[in-house]
Amino acid sequence: MRIILYTGKGGVGKTSISAATGLELARRGYRTLVMSVDPAHSLSDSFDLEKRLMDHEAGQLVAVAKNLWIQEVDVQEEISRHWDSVYSYVSALLNLSGLEQTLAEELAIFPGMEEVSSLLYVNQYVREKSFDVMLLDCAPTGESLRFVSIPTTLEWYMSKIFKLERRVARLVRPMFNTLTSVPLPQEDYFRNLQELHRKLSGIDKLLVDSKVTTVRLVTNPEKVVLKETQRAFTYFCLYGLTVDAVIVNRILPEEAGGGYFSAWKDTQRRWVESVEEFFAPVPVWRVPYFQDEVLGVERLNALGKALYGSRDPAKRYFNEAPYRFRKIHGGYEARLRLPFVSGKDVDLFKKNDELVIRIGVFKRHISLPQRMMRCEPLGARFENGELIVELGESHAQNKKGRETA
Ligand SMILES: Nc1ncnc2c1ncn2[C@@H]1O[C@H](COP(=O)(O)OP(=O)(O)OP(=O)(O)O)[C@@H](O)[C@H]1O
Ligand SMILES: [Mg+2]
Repeated sequence: MRIILYTGKGGVGKTSISAATGLELARRGYRTLVMSVDPAHSLSDSFDLEKRLMDHEAGQLVAVAKNLWIQEVDVQEEISRHWDSVYSYVSALLNLSGLEQTLAEELAIFPGMEEVSSLLYVNQYVREKSFDVMLLDCAPTGESLRFVSIPTTLEWYMSKIFKLERRVARLVRPMFNTLTSVPLPQEDYFRNLQELHRKLSGIDKLLVDSKVTTVRLVTNPEKVVLKETQRAFTYFCLYGLTVDAVIVNRILPEEAGGGYFSAWKDTQRRWVESVEEFFAPVPVWRVPYFQDEVLGVERLNALGKALYGSRDPAKRYFNEAPYRFRKIHGGYEARLRLPFVSGKDVDLFKKNDELVIRIGVFKRHISLPQRMMRCEPLGARFENGELIVELGESHAQNKKGRETA
């Protein structure tokens, strides 16, 4: 059983690629589900299905071909199914804090709710062994990516805080209610959380088990898009998920180069050539810009063919964390597996939020996690095929920090 997440910046081609992958897998005989995790669903549009999707099918499993189903998770439906008491409590709290009711209700759908709802389905289908492969067409990267950390965070909350909070709420609720109009959560809120926790149990392990779950980052050969992909890459590394391919979509082919698009083509060529510097050793797959929108089964099949050729999309194409970060005394350590690079002079520098490593002709850009952005590289050493870069706040920065404090 496999779970593959397709994610990337808005509009890069996640949905088209998820749909094309679904068709390719179904053709190979895998029972496949493509699930849209993005609240702005376009999966059925991609299959050109809108005429066939009935109201009662919204949010449900819909068969679109032999061995292939799609599902567009409907957040309103999911709130009433899974989040009712949590949602009621949060929206009441927001309303009491002065927000107008409709806005409070809107804001109470907190980031990650759709995604967690879809993880509930994924967990259910895993238990029921409903599919061989589940593809998750995710929302654009950025904050919404944090959903991958929700099961782990919930696990931590349930084991460390939940029981205490529930007991405290039980004890102080009567007194608290007479003193203030701000409500403390009721028992049904806690029951709701407990139930969610039960239904999500195990998914955190599945997400970080690279035999089951891998992430494929979809990107375009443009600076801004690549930068975001790079951040997502680091982010997934941090959370222990395995990125097993990067898909560079919409590359202008040779014949599309002239005239109006010639500057675009040069720009793209530069980024396509250097894309490995950002993502190697993870494999990079390239997809051309098609002549028209990728809509309907025939064009999705063409996209699938261009992307996979004879490759089986269900296989896992990379199985290591390309880098790991660790807190050490007084700073951080970034470790990179570089088995084929020997210990020549290592040139390290920081460029904005990036750590750039150059060793002879080898060059790698690493987007640093938030906590490490203020650090400077202090030195590097090789150990058992790994390059270990030490980062810490430089003395100049420390001094400046103290002066401004
Ligand atoms: N290789 C390609 N060649 C031509 N058009 C493409 C290609 N890939 C995607 N498209 C088109 O680009 C548009 C956006 O694609 P898609 O909806 O798959 O992106 P997305 O990343 O899912 O977007 P969103 O972030 O809004 O969910 C669609 O019109 C799609 O048909
Ligand atoms: Mg999409």
